[in-house]
Amino acid sequence: MARRGVRMKPYHQSERVTLYRGDCLAILPTLADCSIDLIVTDPPYGHNNNNGDLIHRREAALGRLPGGADSPQGRPIANDGPEANELWKNVIPHTVRLLRTGGCCCCCCCCGGGGPDPQFARWSLWMDEHLDFKQMVVWDKGKMGMGWHYRRSYETVLVGLKPGGPCKWYDDSKKIENIIRPGDYGNKKISPREHDHPTPKPAALAEHFVRPHSTGEDVVLDLFMGGGWVGAPGGRLGRLGMGIEIDEKYCEIAAKRIQAAERDQAERLVTA
Ligand SMILES: C[S@@+](CC[C@H](N)C(=O)[O-])C[C@H]1O[C@@H](n2cnc3c(N)ncnc32)[C@H](O)[C@@H]1O
Repeated sequence: MARRGVRMKPYHQSERVTLYRGDCLAILPTLADCSIDLIVTDPPYGHNNNNGDLIHRREAALGRLPGGADSPQGRPIANDGPEANELWKNVIPHTVRLLRTGGCCCCCCCCGGGGPDPQFARWSLWMDEHLDFKQMVVWDKGKMGMGWHYRRSYETVLVGLKPGGPCKWYDDSKKIENIIRPGDYGNKKISPREHDHPTPKPAALAEHFVRPHSTGEDVVLDLFMGGGWVGAPGGRLGRLGMGIEIDEKYCEIAAKRIQAAERDQAERLVTA
């Protein structure tokens, strides 16, 4: 178990983004108090994704399973069973310690329900015990999501504010709403490709929170980074990104995506 103040060796380190491989509950205590400006993250929801559930069955039906159409191989996500609730509950106190005053924690959460558990309500109340609950933002993913009764066409992002100062907010347009509509800022849901993370979120969704809540070289943390969700766009916007991911294969995907985003950025600077 890593200890406070003992710096862990990063899995990947570039000029702007540091990625750690491991359990965030072990790594977070090693990070200094008040060292993070913004947290944007997408924890496991506890839906057993790609372990026999909807995504897995959809991919099987479409012949898109890694290893071929008849492959029984799924892409399970760590801690994506009933333990997901407890994991997020245990992470929340760390977010308060790590954030600078006025910093926000933006946490993706389920689509209103999709099971017997009203997770959005439970997670909101848990967050509000430590942070000031600010908003539940709805990401409208467009028509015909997965499921059957009440198909899942949206997800939520719960936003909590570290108390003690005004919310860090750098958007002057006054046009940012608490609903993200399909196509807003180029936002659209993406289907996982065979060799990608099984539940990839669009970069534009991360940018929707990174842009107004941070500026310059602020430090943005994603503690369930998957395939590089926040690190890549955060780096592209000039922030200093920090990511944690427990699964080595997703760390590998994340590192490649971060490098590609940095190459893009460098090319843009050269041609600008
Ligand atoms: C819903 S996925 C994130 C997907 C990501 N938003 C993307 O676009 O690629 C959640 C991720 O959390 C990782 N994870 C689960 N438990 C973890 C833990 N204790 N510490 C760090 N990462 C964990 C899983 O391996 C998974 O990749």
